[in-house]
Amino acid sequence: MATLNWQELEQACMSCRNCALCEERTNVVFGVGPRDAEVMFIGEGPGENEDLQGEPFVGRGGKLLDEMLEIIDLSREKNIYIANMVKCRPPKNRDPLNTEQDACIGYLRNQVALLRPKIIVCLGRIAAMRIIKPDFKISQEHGQWFEKNGVWTTAFFHPAALLRDPRRKPEAFADLKALQTKIQQVCDHTY
Ligand code: URA
Repeated sequence: MATLNWQELEQACMSCRNCALCEERTNVVFGVGPRDAEVMFIGEGPGENEDLQGEPFVGRGGKLLDEMLEIIDLSREKNIYIANMVKCRPPKNRDPLNTEQDACIGYLRNQVALLRPKIIVCLGRIAAMRIIKPDFKISQEHGQWFEKNGVWTTAFFHPAALLRDPRRKPEAFADLKALQTKIQQVCDHTY
């Protein structure tokens, strides 16, 4: 697929019927944030609140994510772009199937091509396995940095995992501080 501009791409997503997730969706969750952001976050797929509101990470996990990001002066209003692997909600919040990821990944690639981020942060195992490497182990490899096609890429624990197991928060905080350092090294205008 040729690279579409933002408007064409959003339009294509809104009317997408590439997989069965389109049948049950309330809203397509395209992505949010400034389109010149140097840092991109990639989650798994919309949950119930996201499906209802059409925006990624707006439930309890999203609130935690926003609070964590604020510590290092990042926000979706100001300087980061947030999107998901799949743009429509998988039923009962199950993991998106490989076939659903395959049907949707072109939209994400197009978003990356338009944004040209310096840094990509995968949120959780599913995004990390697709974007960093298929055998990615989130418990062992979160916070490590990989250079993928000239883009610095890492994975954080998914906010929902931090809500389930708050004992992981100190590690998540260390990952956040490492992101701050990486931003200072490679970004031009994020601060
Ligand atoms: N979980 C995700 O991975 N993405 C969202 O947008 C919401 C919850």
